[in-house]
Amino acid sequence: ATIYIPRDSGALALGAEKVAKAVAAELATRNIEAKIVRNGSRGLYWLEPMVEVETASGRVAYGPVKPSDVPSLFDSGFLFGGAHPLLLGVPEEIPFLKRQTRLTFARCGITDPLSLEDYEAHGGLRGLRKALAMTPAEIVGEVTESGLRGRGGAGFPTGIKWKTVLEAQADRKYIVCNADEGDSGTFADRMIMEGDPFVLIEGMAIAGIAVGANKGYIYLRSEYPHAERALNEAIAVARKAGILGRSVLGSDHAFDMEVRVGAGAYVCGEETALLDSLEGKRGMVRAKPPLPAHEGLFGKPTVINNVISLASVPIILDKGAAFYRDFGMGRSRGTIPIQIAGNVKHGGLFEAAFGLTLGEIVDDIGGGTATGRPVKAVQVGGPLGAYFPRALFDTPFDYEAFAEKDGLIGHAGIVVFDDTVDMLKQARFAMEFCAVESCGKCTPCRIGSTRGVEVLDRLARNIEPESQIEIITDLCNTMKFGSLCALGGFTPYPVMSALTHFPEDFRPQPVRQAAE
Ligand code: NAI
Ligand code: SF4
Repeated sequence: ATIYIPRDSGALALGAEKVAKAVAAELATRNIEAKIVRNGSRGLYWLEPMVEVETASGRVAYGPVKPSDVPSLFDSGFLFGGAHPLLLGVPEEIPFLKRQTRLTFARCGITDPLSLEDYEAHGGLRGLRKALAMTPAEIVGEVTESGLRGRGGAGFPTGIKWKTVLEAQADRKYIVCNADEGDSGTFADRMIMEGDPFVLIEGMAIAGIAVGANKGYIYLRSEYPHAERALNEAIAVARKAGILGRSVLGSDHAFDMEVRVGAGAYVCGEETALLDSLEGKRGMVRAKPPLPAHEGLFGKPTVINNVISLASVPIILDKGAAFYRDFGMGRSRGTIPIQIAGNVKHGGLFEAAFGLTLGEIVDDIGGGTATGRPVKAVQVGGPLGAYFPRALFDTPFDYEAFAEKDGLIGHAGIVVFDDTVDMLKQARFAMEFCAVESCGKCTPCRIGSTRGVEVLDRLARNIEPESQIEIITDLCNTMKFGSLCALGGFTPYPVMSALTHFPEDFRPQPVRQAAE
């Protein structure tokens, strides 16, 4: 029998390591021969640690498993899919998984993340092999045709970015993967890096072949030690297998890569600050132009893409642009790994074609709040994303539809809040976050964020509320249009959306006064 116990950070945080030890001990005590595979997570975090067993009729899941459940699991014959209170059945039949379209996450939670054999048996390397038989322009054309847009948040067409780098003349070019996943409530990058690192390696190799770069860097946030280990081990395996190195799979293309770990600054997720940090400098935002596609890492043309953008490339090359393009709505093509977090019953990763409404995601898929209280607000797109009230729950998950409602889908993180949330405090938090994380290069962000905190504090104390609202609105406009990068430029989204959709939380509050 084969037993799958996730080694994903989320599962580990919920006790997966202790469960793995308990299973191993029980196997030894009972003298049973079985293989334990440490897979990635399927992304159903409320059911983690979710243990799966390969039975004669396929995989069967149990969860959430505590170490103390292990003896009773063995007693009920879980190695053969036996009945137990924790039995979840066939994992693919769990509604949360069944409703998904897993393209980028096709293997995550299913395979052994570090087994190349497993990877190939589940469709891995097919995209790279196809790419090796194509010209660079054909590869770029395929990615452009697929409609893939940057999954880091800005949604810029990936193919056009690649074309710019392909056409740039230089002695060296680079592929940089932005793995500084810093948005609140996001974990898609981490899940892929831990659960299916080869797909990212394959995507980066394809990018290298497409634009003529032979060196790649993964810039990883320091808070992801498990991803660092998985990536480094996977890179070593890929080198040994001839996927990386002087000759990619026997071709005349050279491509290699390494992992670089950041030091914990949110702004280093901004692409130019990231490049500075990668070059060994303090991460400061650079003015654009020049675009990184023209002058990026060490001044050379650089493709800089988010983990999910790069990890979506192999399936596009494998199945063709038309296959990928067929999913989605409007100009948002393909699938998007939505990360449902915060005060929600069913938190986890939900990959689906663009177009689900926010209400479907929060109420149906997420199951409402974990506290059972009504949902008051949902922040979409990280700490710089707008708060959406229930009244906007009919907004479809699509780049343009969110922009039309003064929001953004960003890296597709959704954080749910119940009716106990105080939106004035949330607005203050956004300004404070900006003040703490600002790189300090431009005035609206560096000084504006601190002034913003002060204005909101005055509002909370009911000091001339009318003029505070006028000042904060004006300040947000200045930050939005006068900041150099998205940190200062997008902080107005959470602040203004809170003020617009929840004005009652910004009115003089006798209760608040009495409490303070
Ligand atoms: P942007 O719109 O300035 O640029 C998007 C990308 O397109 C960049 O890589 C840029 O270099 C490239 N680009 C633009 N014009 C181009 C051209 N003509 N040719 C080639 N490439 C071109 O957006 P930015 O500032 O890079 O990102 C902002 C987004 O970042 C926000 O929407 C936010 O959602 C997201 N974000 C994501 C976080 C995460 O943890 N994933 C954290 C914070 C923000
Ligand atoms: Fe730096 Fe803020 Fe200006 Fe961005 S907006 S460059 S983080 S000071």
